[in-house]
Amino acid sequence: MKRTFLLSLCTVSLLTAGAQQLPIYQDPVQPIEARVEDALSRMTTAEKIAVIHAQSKFSSAGVQRLGIPELWMTDGPHGIRPEVLWDEWDQAGWSNDSCTAFPALTCLAATWNPDMAMLYGKSIGEEARYRKKDVLLGPGVNIYRTPLNGRNFEYMGEDPYLASRMVVPYIKGVQQNGVAACVKHYALNNQEYLRHQYNAVLDDRALYEIYLPAFRAAVVEGGAWAIMPSYNLYRKEHAAQNRRLLNDILRGEWKFDGVAISDWGAVHDTRPSITQGVDMEFGSWTNGLTEGFKNAYDSYYLAQPYLKLIEQGVYGTQELDDKVRRVLRLAFRTAMNTRKPIGSMNSPAHSEAARRIADEGIVLLKNDRNVLPIDLAKRPTLLVVGENAVKMMTVGGGSSSLKARYEISPLDGLRQRVGTQGTVKYVRGYVGDVGGSYNGVQSGQDLNDDRTPEQLEAEAVDAARRVDYVVYIGGLNKSNHQDCEDSDRTGLELPYGQDRLISALAKANPNLIVVNISGNAVAMPWVKEVPAIVQGWYLGSETGHALAGVLTGDVNPSGRLPFTFPVRLSDVGAHRLGEYPGNAAELELMKQPEHKNDTIDVTYREGIFVGYRFADKERIAPLFAFGHGLSYTTFAYSKPTVDKKTLSADGQLTVSLTVTNTGMRDGEEVVQLYISDLKSSLPRPVKELKAFRKVALKVGESKEVQFTVDRTALSYFDDRIHRWVAEPGMFEAIVAASASDIRGKVKFALE
Ligand code: GLC
Repeated sequence: MKRTFLLSLCTVSLLTAGAQQLPIYQDPVQPIEARVEDALSRMTTAEKIAVIHAQSKFSSAGVQRLGIPELWMTDGPHGIRPEVLWDEWDQAGWSNDSCTAFPALTCLAATWNPDMAMLYGKSIGEEARYRKKDVLLGPGVNIYRTPLNGRNFEYMGEDPYLASRMVVPYIKGVQQNGVAACVKHYALNNQEYLRHQYNAVLDDRALYEIYLPAFRAAVVEGGAWAIMPSYNLYRKEHAAQNRRLLNDILRGEWKFDGVAISDWGAVHDTRPSITQGVDMEFGSWTNGLTEGFKNAYDSYYLAQPYLKLIEQGVYGTQELDDKVRRVLRLAFRTAMNTRKPIGSMNSPAHSEAARRIADEGIVLLKNDRNVLPIDLAKRPTLLVVGENAVKMMTVGGGSSSLKARYEISPLDGLRQRVGTQGTVKYVRGYVGDVGGSYNGVQSGQDLNDDRTPEQLEAEAVDAARRVDYVVYIGGLNKSNHQDCEDSDRTGLELPYGQDRLISALAKANPNLIVVNISGNAVAMPWVKEVPAIVQGWYLGSETGHALAGVLTGDVNPSGRLPFTFPVRLSDVGAHRLGEYPGNAAELELMKQPEHKNDTIDVTYREGIFVGYRFADKERIAPLFAFGHGLSYTTFAYSKPTVDKKTLSADGQLTVSLTVTNTGMRDGEEVVQLYISDLKSSLPRPVKELKAFRKVALKVGESKEVQFTVDRTALSYFDDRIHRWVAEPGMFEAIVAASASDIRGKVKFALE
């Protein structure tokens, strides 16, 4: 027995000795930090420099000698971008890179449902993983300061609390696939106009209470593995080489252990980038689309120029080692993560996810006479009017543009849904943007129509007289200045003469339903003439199915606005108090060629008074309020109560109420809790969103909703002492169905 045991013992030891002991960095059972340090210790300075900047349009080098893989990035927040050429923005022409187009993030925010954010992140993360991408360049969480910002459709609205609650699950969902989410654009990228050269000027209250919270939540609660500093400046330093944003706040206050990946072309200098800049430099030799040097990657600011400074002894390698540690940590979390899932692409599950998010994000803004839902039992004749009923929307809008495997148009969705239960006719109504390509992705549609607006309107009005319902589908379209990267809108109005057409249709048929497709608020001068209005976002592949489902009543809409619809631009803080698009005198000076590239200031004079915070302050009635959205049923709220009249400094208080479905259909209500500080030593908004809950209720059903309130919900950022402060005194818990639809209040004191 003993001999056998000894024999087997030495066999085992021979085996293990034979099986070469893996180096620590290659051993998946080793803790990541040990693997990072081991890999770092084996790298040469040249290899360290190679991994902190791009080697192609969307990838960074690995360390071939050590078997450390290169890292691949991909846009965008709504789906996985089609493959581009090594050093170009143009298509690589692959035939396997079509994707599921998920709804734009404004739609996700409009669901007010964190479960949808988790579903979204999980699904898009699976597509990124399947496409072997290590970093998803999204989500975007810049706050909606002006309705003219071209990229608001990629973001999550005007309120920092809503954006914070929705971004965290998205990030967790993405990263459970072994793909890094790269939250962007950090920070203060609240306009596209002069995005490379405007300098945001604002006080710390606005910075910490409005513009940072969603990024902080993404990092501290979401555990984002990457973040993308933006193009613009803050305190006269570009965000990608900004001491306060990157060193003091991100790495200092938030203890961020991930990678800061520059926006493409956002790095401008070597030295600041060494000491207070990004960890990975991308896109430096392009201005986004035209300028570029073939394979200029070794000339990047953090490439040879940096290496030279080290060789000259100007810098040591501790800054370089810190950057490389972060890049290696990213590699071990993603490309070298041996336990990551395998992903999936274009699956029925992803179509289902896209559909559910769209279903839950569509917002019913108005529904007089219960014109909606369209009752198919009556075998109605529908006339669909408008270019957006047929135009592909997944192509265009900038870097979030996609090559969707399919996109169901609103018209096709309605035709499929109505089937033989009615008749669906279509007229163009107006001609907007007949183009349909971006970076070489062609929509393949020929929308050319050389009839005049008058002819188009006459045709539509004439047809509208002889049908049961007119479904107008218009809005914006992600073309230049119409919700598009690098081009803000120039006004709040709908383009292409749509306002006149809508008014004409309203006169021709009382059952007019207007569906506005946009990622921004638009002016609605015809709002009183139109009985039913639906806010349809850029809904992605499942657009037509989701819209048809809501319009015909298969789905009871439950979306709520993530931003205020102002009546006019001057009702917006940034336009009435603040500067937009920038300091007038500097803008004037820029017209002179020698000043074209000057930095200009944009002063956020409105401070913390953004969105409904401004509307409340100035007692302005919005067209439609933040948090607004109707249902095909109705809900009643009981009077809210609190479990204690006085909240101790570090205690908790529970606000309770009962919500009842008092209508004829099952539905979902978004109960919103706002907190009002009745007396504060610094100016505060009248109320601020501090909790919300989406509640499903069957006909007649009641549910108790409870919100827990603690001092964080009562605090404001006191920039005199750089600290969050909850001041003792009286507060009010406000329960509401929107920022303008208050259902109950209850006072309490903070001791
Ligand atoms: C773009 C965008 C950024 C995008 C990047 C790569 O300029 O600002 O959101 O991820 O470049 O396309």
